[in-house]
Amino acid sequence: MKNRTISLETLLQEGRKFPPSDPFRRQANIQDPDIYQKAAADPEGYWARWARELDWMKPWDQVLEWNPPFAKWFVGGKINASVNCVDRHLSQRQNKVAILWEGETGDTRRFTYGELSEQVNRFANVLKKRGIQRGDRVAIYLPMIPEIVIACLACSRIGAVHSVVFGGFSADSLRDRILDAHAELLVTADFGWRRGKRLFLKQSADGALTQTPSIENVVVVAREGTPSKECPMKGGRDHWWHDEMGKVEASCPPEAIDAEEMLFTLYTSGTTGKPKGIVHTTGGYLTGVYATTKWVFDLKENDVFWCTADIGWVTGHSYVIYGPLANGATVVIYEGAPDWPEKDRFWKIIEKYKVTIFYTAPTAIRAFMKWGAQWVDRADLSSLRLLGSVGEPINPEAWIWYHHYIGKEKCPIVDTWWQTETGCILMTPLPGITTTKPGSATKPFPGIAAEVLNDSGERVEVGGGYVAITKPWPSMLRTLFNDDERYVKQYWSKWKGIYFAGDGVKRDEDGDFWFLGRVDDVLKLAGHRIGTMEVESAFVDHPAVAESAVVGRPHDIKGEAIVAFVTLREPAKPSPELIEELKEHVVKKIGSIARPEEILFTVDLPKTRSGKIMRRLLRDIAVGKALGDTTTLADPSVVEGLKRQYESIEAG
Ligand code: WTA
Repeated sequence: MKNRTISLETLLQEGRKFPPSDPFRRQANIQDPDIYQKAAADPEGYWARWARELDWMKPWDQVLEWNPPFAKWFVGGKINASVNCVDRHLSQRQNKVAILWEGETGDTRRFTYGELSEQVNRFANVLKKRGIQRGDRVAIYLPMIPEIVIACLACSRIGAVHSVVFGGFSADSLRDRILDAHAELLVTADFGWRRGKRLFLKQSADGALTQTPSIENVVVVAREGTPSKECPMKGGRDHWWHDEMGKVEASCPPEAIDAEEMLFTLYTSGTTGKPKGIVHTTGGYLTGVYATTKWVFDLKENDVFWCTADIGWVTGHSYVIYGPLANGATVVIYEGAPDWPEKDRFWKIIEKYKVTIFYTAPTAIRAFMKWGAQWVDRADLSSLRLLGSVGEPINPEAWIWYHHYIGKEKCPIVDTWWQTETGCILMTPLPGITTTKPGSATKPFPGIAAEVLNDSGERVEVGGGYVAITKPWPSMLRTLFNDDERYVKQYWSKWKGIYFAGDGVKRDEDGDFWFLGRVDDVLKLAGHRIGTMEVESAFVDHPAVAESAVVGRPHDIKGEAIVAFVTLREPAKPSPELIEELKEHVVKKIGSIARPEEILFTVDLPKTRSGKIMRRLLRDIAVGKALGDTTTLADPSVVEGLKRQYESIEAG
C-alpha cells in the first residue's frame, strides 16, 4: 500500500493545510464561499430558507422571538418530526433502506423507509394505548438496536417527549433521570451485547424502578426476538414489545406539533453533582440538524452514512436519527464494540455496507492507531468519501493518521465542535470550501455567530479565550428541564445575552478556531461527558470515604482519565482492596465510563482558607507539573505531601 513505510513523524509536518480537492469541491452541496457573509447579513432569512426545506403542517408567523436568553424559532408553525424523518420520504423512497443494522454477534436487520414507517406508527399506537399523551415523558434505556430509533420517532409522532438514557449508565443514573423528568413509561430491552457479554438492561432498570413511582408501564424489547430467561417481568407493568406491536393498528396519524413544543430532553453533566435535562424543541432543532447534515457531511441521495455514536448521547440523537433521516439518508447502526470479535470490526462494516461517510470520535481514532494499520488493511475502504470527528479535541497526530490510513488522503475531514446544548454542529469545515488544518475545527457554520471572548467579554481577534455565541440559533437548547434559573445562570451570566459554552479556544491569524478543552469541571472521558462533582458524590456515598476531589488527567487514548484524591473515614484504612472496591462503587453508582483510573488516599485535601478545594493544584499534581502558587492555601504542606506521595506511586 502507498506510503505504508512512511512514519508518522514524517507525515506530521506541522502547519500543513489541506484545501478541498477539485473533484470534491466541484460536486459539493455547498460550493459558494460567500455563504458565510450572506448568512451573517440576514441570519433569520437564511435559517428560514433552511426551515422551508422541511415539511410543515402550518407555516410560522415569525422566524425568531428573542427575549434573551429565551428564544422561540418559527413561532406559530406546526410540524411533526416523524413526518419529516419518515412519512415525507414515502413517495420517493418507500423502498430505500433507512436503517442498516448489525448486531455485535453478527445478526443483521434492515428497514426500508416503508418498513420504518410501519414500525413507528405501530409503536406510537402502543404508547397511546399505554396512556402516553402529548407532552408526557418517555424514558428510553436501550442498546443500539433499531427499536431505539423507532421508539424516539414514535414519541415524536404523538408529541411525547423522549428522554434517552445511555445503556451504559447504572440503575442509579437511570433512576435520577426518570425522577427528574417525571417519566411515565420506560422502554428497555432484556439485554444487549457488548464485547461478547450480555448486558442485562431490564435487570438494571428493575433496580431503578423500585424507586420511580411515576413509571406506570415498561415496554421490553426481546433483543433476540424471543424473550430471555433472565428477564423477570412484573405483571400489569411490564409488557413485551413484540406482543404490544402485534395488538395495535399499523397506522397512527401524526400530531401537529408547535415548533416550540419539546421534542426531547437529554441529561448531560455540568459543574454540579446533578445532571441537567437539556430541553430541545421541535422546529428549530430539526432545522439545525437537517441543515448541518446536508452541508457538513455533504450528504447525497446515494450515501451510506455511519455515525458511530451511541444514541444515548446527543451525537446519536442528531446524527444517527434526526439529521440523516430528515434528509432521507441510509444510516448504519452497529450495536457493539469496535474490537469485537477482532480489531477490524469497523473496517469490515464499512466494506460490507459500502459506507461513504464515517463520523467517529478522536478516542476511537487513537485506539485504532494503537492497534495498528494492519487491521485497516484487512478491509476495502474505497467506498469512503468523507470523514468526521466529534466529541473532544482531535490531536494532529490522530487527524493525520485518520487522513492517511482511513481516508487514503482523498477524503476531507470535518472536525465538528458542538454540545448537547447546541443541538447541532456549530463549528466545522464545509468540505467543499474550507481549507482544513489538523487539530482545528476551523469556522462557525454559516448562520452561527461565534467569537472568542476574554473574561471581561472583550473580543479576542487572534489568541486565546472562551468560545461565545453571540446570536441565538434554531437548534439551541431552550432551557433546562424545569429549571429556567439554572439555565440563565449556567449559560448566559458570564456575559449578558451571550452564550457561554464552557470551552477554551484559540483563534489563529486565519480566523480559525482551535478548541482546547473545557474550562470548567466537566470531564471528557473517551468522549463521554461526566462532571467531576458527580464522581465525587459517588465516592462520598461509600461509607469509607469522608471527602474526595476528582480531576482529569490527560490520557493517550481516552483523552482524559479520572484521578481521585480521597480522605477516609475512621476506621477505614488505605489498601489495594479498598482502591478496587471504590472503583467498583463508582462504576455501580454511575456506570463503567466513570471508572477512576487512579485513586490516591490522603489525610487532607488542599483547601483555601475559605475551605474550597483547590482542584487546580490537584490537577497539577496529577499531570506531574511543578506546583503553582500555593500561598492562598490554608496549609501548603498538604500539597507538598500529596505531590511526593503521588510521585512515589507513579515511580513504583
Ligand atoms: C467537547 C458532544 C473539541 C467540548 C457533541 C464540548 C469538542 C463538549 C469537539 C460537549 C471538537 C465536542 N473539538 N472539543 N470537535 N466536539 N467537544 O455535550 O468540550 O457530549 O463542550 O456533546 O465536548 O460534549 P457533549
